[in-house]
Amino acid sequence: METLLDVENLWVKFPSRHGVFDAVRGVSFTLGRERLGIVGESGSGKSMTGRAILRLIRPPGIVEADQISLEGVDLMKLPEKDMRSVRGQRISMVMQDPKFSLNPVMTIGDQIIEAYRLHTTATKTQAYEKSLEMLEAVSIRDPERVMRAYPHEMSGGMGQRIMIAMMLIPNPEILIADEPTSALDVSVQRQVLDIMDKLVKDRGMGLIFISHDLNLVADFCDRVLIMYAGRIVEVCDADKLHEAQHPYTRGLLNSLPRLDQPRDRLDVLKRDPDWSIAPSVSARL
Ligand SMILES: Nc1ncnc2c1ncn2[C@@H]1O[C@H](COP(=O)(O)OP(=O)(O)OP(=O)(O)O)[C@@H](O)[C@H]1O
Ligand SMILES: [Mg+2]
Repeated sequence: METLLDVENLWVKFPSRHGVFDAVRGVSFTLGRERLGIVGESGSGKSMTGRAILRLIRPPGIVEADQISLEGVDLMKLPEKDMRSVRGQRISMVMQDPKFSLNPVMTIGDQIIEAYRLHTTATKTQAYEKSLEMLEAVSIRDPERVMRAYPHEMSGGMGQRIMIAMMLIPNPEILIADEPTSALDVSVQRQVLDIMDKLVKDRGMGLIFISHDLNLVADFCDRVLIMYAGRIVEVCDADKLHEAQHPYTRGLLNSLPRLDQPRDRLDVLKRDPDWSIAPSVSARL
């Protein structure tokens, strides 16, 4: 498979007075024109991995990597000015909490149009039409009204869909979607997944899909990275996720309710200190 992104030995470090906390510890993976899932419990380093690719870790956090290569160009070596044109144009990211990603004092419409025109030569009218089209595509029923509204007038689920629409308008080569459907009800979730799926299949976009939901990832993705304490502990094909071998992955799976195997009590995940000593598994193809 053609490689769009090659991440080699990625670390995210947070220095403090008490020493350095490593949120991501030597993660390596490639992304092709596929749906790559990242799962793992809260705090395992999923969001920091996504943000580090776009060099969006806030100081004092530090990103280190042997390379983060986008079609042969090492993003680690790009000046910040060039990195800005990578963000939102070649690689888009839907952040975990859309409330913090939207500007509270600008209408939704002005924000989408501004984001779009930043990267294209479209006229205001063209950008407006395109924005309406994308809002409709993420199942927003009354796009004209939404364009005039402010972010606080939107529910969490609407905010998530608006962010997704906004991130997809510039036709990115790669989309990093951090829990993009967690605030959506099941039918809207399905529609949003279908949109992303279509972009991967029709346009060859690469998708990094970060989620807590192992069943969803098993169903939707092609390949899955399982993270624990900043490392990849296991990589597997999504359709084989339920047969995963690592005891942590088994633990995550056994703590999920399954309709086909009902049980009175769900297992509590028992952690083994060895899991945090073993080096990160490479998911480079
Ligand atoms: N500014 C910071 N300073 C120090 N540690 C931080 C900072 N930001 C995040 N961390 C730590 O980095 C680790 C990884 O965080 P990250 O947000 O990547 O987790 P996550 O897997 O996305 O979790 P969740 O599923 O809850 O979103 C966590 O232990 C978190 O506490
Ligand atoms: Mg997160």
